Amino acid sequence: MKPFSKETYIQRRSELKKRVGSGLLLFLGNGEAPMNYADNTYHFRQDSSFHYFFGSDYAGLAAVIDIDTDTEVIFGNELTIDDIVWMGYQPSLHEKCELVGISHTMPLSELATCVKTAQSKGQTIHFLPPYRGEHQVWLQELLGINPAEQAAKASLPMIRAIVDMRNHKTAEEIEHIEAAVDVSVDMHLAAYRAARPGVTEAQIAAEVERACLSQDCYKAFPTIATVKGQTLHQHKFMNTLEAGQIFLLDAGAEDPMHYAGDLSSSMPVSDRFTPEQEMIYNLHLKTFKAATDTLAPGVPFRQAHMNAAVCLCEGMKEIGLMKGDPVDAAYSGAYAMFFPCGLGHMMGLDVHDMENLGEQYVGYANGEKKSTQFGFKSLRLARKLEPGFVFTVEPGIYFIPELIDKWRAEHQFTDFICYDKLEAWKGFSGLRNELDYLITEDGARVLGHKQKPMTVEEVYAAKNAL
Ligand code: GLY
Ligand code: MN
Repeated sequence: MKPFSKETYIQRRSELKKRVGSGLLLFLGNGEAPMNYADNTYHFRQDSSFHYFFGSDYAGLAAVIDIDTDTEVIFGNELTIDDIVWMGYQPSLHEKCELVGISHTMPLSELATCVKTAQSKGQTIHFLPPYRGEHQVWLQELLGINPAEQAAKASLPMIRAIVDMRNHKTAEEIEHIEAAVDVSVDMHLAAYRAARPGVTEAQIAAEVERACLSQDCYKAFPTIATVKGQTLHQHKFMNTLEAGQIFLLDAGAEDPMHYAGDLSSSMPVSDRFTPEQEMIYNLHLKTFKAATDTLAPGVPFRQAHMNAAVCLCEGMKEIGLMKGDPVDAAYSGAYAMFFPCGLGHMMGLDVHDMENLGEQYVGYANGEKKSTQFGFKSLRLARKLEPGFVFTVEPGIYFIPELIDKWRAEHQFTDFICYDKLEAWKGFSGLRNELDYLITEDGARVLGHKQKPMTVEEVYAAKNAL
């Protein structure tokens, strides 16, 4: 797929200038991040907002948009002969910047002077909250702001403008997201084929990552490949799969333009689920449908989350693990015993899109507060949905022994949770499925051209596929 034209970047910057109105917008690109010594680096990942406005996928750049004088400059150093000897030929900084419609480049050392000049003229310097130590040091050098105060002093007008632009995906962005989702589906199909007794989690993760790398993609986030699915982010591969277990995969690709896919799958390690597992899996599919049936412009995502929570409490009551009114159980927060995270999150250039700019701004409307209550506090997305929003839907059902013990000891939600019966379920582990959605003008659709297995029959078929 072709990279975006320079007009895309010019239009994005022009829109940003209009929205913020005045001052100097400062963007710090990411540098190389050392693993254990300077030249042994992690996979390079550009900052997503830098990438969104400047397209440039190289380390060690910064950029400034002076709204008041309508100038745009990318700061960076040309490669030395040593760099080229070790890293190979690259176009000049000027050539790279021309591709995104910027003709003005300067050495990195000039950035401090540029910022100081703007400050001396009384211009507001807009910057984003830093999430890397190197940026905190850089901001301190440039602006004299203590790292501990930088997040609070970041520019709200810049954050809000960027969030609003990046939250609304364009058709060309959707194409890239769908390409990432398609590769993500292949990663999951590899896991369905690989999961069987005697195989290690690491071996499945290797198959999953092969499907990703071999299609010129990189992981959008660390792969979760585990038989301990009750741990929401289990990033270690420690176990060998055993008959009778549930294997959970949460994995996704980012395409070469860095747009992400994010999917989860749960499957039996044996050929079939046990009757108990199948019952919980099917209840989970019901919660998924309860959530997704409601997706449309104008519907708060919080509503979809609550629909899933109510459906979960109804199902748990039928099974005998909950009691009382399911609606009350859901709205009280008791549902979080089995579903302690949010229904989903925005997705785009970041798998949790713009989490570095603040979930409060990305997933919540202006003035809408995020709850601090266990369960509700993990709802990353709550706001009314709008056409162009791209997000995940990932309800799960988890039996977390430590949470069961803690809440039981604290007598939490004793009107709703049947603790005596729950004891026998402590070894169940957990399961979830996850798909990626786009809000359209009149509804919602699943992203991607390939279908990830969801029903029990589809799961069994995928396990047996060649
Ligand atoms: N895929 C990991 C997450 O959504 O947190
Ligand atoms: Mn996710």
